[in-house]
Amino acid sequence: MALTVAFIGTGRKREKGSLIGYAMAYTHAQAFSALDEVELVAACDVIEENVQAFAHEWEIDETFDDYSEMLAEVQPEAVSICTWPHLHERMVIDCARAGVKLIYCEKPMADTIGGARRMVAVCDEQGAALNFNHQRRYGRPFQLAKEMLDDGEIGDLVRIEWGGANIYDYGSHNFDMAQFFNDETPPEWVIAQIDYHTESFWFGAHNENDCLALIGYENAVFGLVATGGVEAAVGCHNKLVGTEGVIEIGSREEGAPVLRYRTYGAGDWQPVDTAGEGLHAQVYINRAVEDAVESYRAGERAMMDAHNAIHATEAIFACWESSRTRAHVEIPMEAEDNPLEAMIEAGELRPEPAEEEA
Ligand SMILES: NC(=O)c1ccc[n+]([C@@H]2O[C@H](COP(=O)([O-])OP(=O)(O)OC[C@H]3O[C@@H](n4cnc5c(N)ncnc54)[C@H](O)[C@@H]3O)[C@@H](O)[C@H]2O)c1
Repeated sequence: MALTVAFIGTGRKREKGSLIGYAMAYTHAQAFSALDEVELVAACDVIEENVQAFAHEWEIDETFDDYSEMLAEVQPEAVSICTWPHLHERMVIDCARAGVKLIYCEKPMADTIGGARRMVAVCDEQGAALNFNHQRRYGRPFQLAKEMLDDGEIGDLVRIEWGGANIYDYGSHNFDMAQFFNDETPPEWVIAQIDYHTESFWFGAHNENDCLALIGYENAVFGLVATGGVEAAVGCHNKLVGTEGVIEIGSREEGAPVLRYRTYGAGDWQPVDTAGEGLHAQVYINRAVEDAVESYRAGERAMMDAHNAIHATEAIFACWESSRTRAHVEIPMEAEDNPLEAMIEAGELRPEPAEEEA
C-alpha cells in the first residue's frame, strides 16, 4: 500500500526565499513525490490561496485550513510540517496523537527546550517516527568530510568548530552537523556568551546577534562556535580539527573550494572534489526524505531522527542558558523554557528594532 502523505503549512512559492518565507513544503513535496509507493493526499494552510496553489502544483485533491480536521478526515500515515518553529511542538504532538506514524518536520525542533523534549517523548509513546529536516547530513561535502575523518586523514578528532549567522535558526543545522561528525555523541556542558542589541527575527523567532561558545562532548571532543559579528573567528561553516590536520567546509576565504584539508607540516590546503555539490541543494532534501521513508518502512531510525536532533537542540538552548545564568551549564539543563526570550521579557536584553532595508 502506498504511503499517504499530508502537508501542514504549504507556504507561498516565491522567486527567492527570505526569512519570512521559503515555502519549504514545496521542497518536501518534491522529495516525497520522487519516491515509489508514496501518495500526496492532502494539504493544509491557514491561507487559502497558499494551499490552493500548492495543491494545484502537486495534484493534491483535498485541502484544509484546519490541520486537526485534515488529520481526522484523511488519517494520513505521514505528515510533513513546514510551519514556523513556534508551531512545531503543538503540530507534531497533535499528529502523533492522531495516529500519524511518520512525521517529517522542519528545523529548528521547537521554540523551547521543554517543547523539543515533549515532542520526542510523545512520538515515542505513540510509536511515531519523528524526523527533522537537517538535510546537510546528505550532502557530498559533509559526507566526504566524515569519511576522511573516519579514515584517519586528520588523526583523531579534537575539536569541531563552526561559524554561522546564529545558533538557533542557522545553528540548528551546524549543531546537528557536529552530532554527525562526532558519531552522535551527546554534548555534556556549555560555556557561552551572547550579545543581542538589534532585533534579529528568523521565521518569527528571536536569534542572538553574536555568540561565542565552547561545548564539551561526552567523548572529550570540544565544540567551538562563533556566530554573527564574531563568525569570522572560525572562518568557515564547519571545521574539523584533528591531531594531525584540519578539514574545512565552506571556507570564507575567497576562491576556496567547498571542501579542503591540510595535514600539519604538509603545507598548502588540498581541495577535495565534491562533484559539484555545495552547501545547499534540493537533492539533499530528496535523499533525507528517502532515508526517512525507507528507515520507517524498515522499522529503523533515519539519520535525522529526533533522537539525534535533540542533542543539537540541547546545545542551542544551553548556550543561551549559559548567557542567562552567566555560568557553565550542564546538559540536559534544568530550565525548560527559551532563555533568550525569557531574557528579553525580563528586560535583561533590550534589542532595538532593526533598521528597514532600503
Ligand atoms: N531546512 C532548511 O534548509 C530550511 C530553509 C528555510 C526554512 N527552513 C525552516 O522551515 C520552516 C518553515 O519556513 P518556510 O520559510 O517554509 O515558511 P513559510 O512562511 O514559507 O510557510 C509557512 C506556512 O505555514 C502556514 N501556517 C501558519 N500557521 C498555520 C497553521 N496553524 N496551520 C496551517 N498552516 C499554517 C503559513 O500560512 C505559511 O503559508 C521554518 O522552521 C524554517 O526555519 C528550513
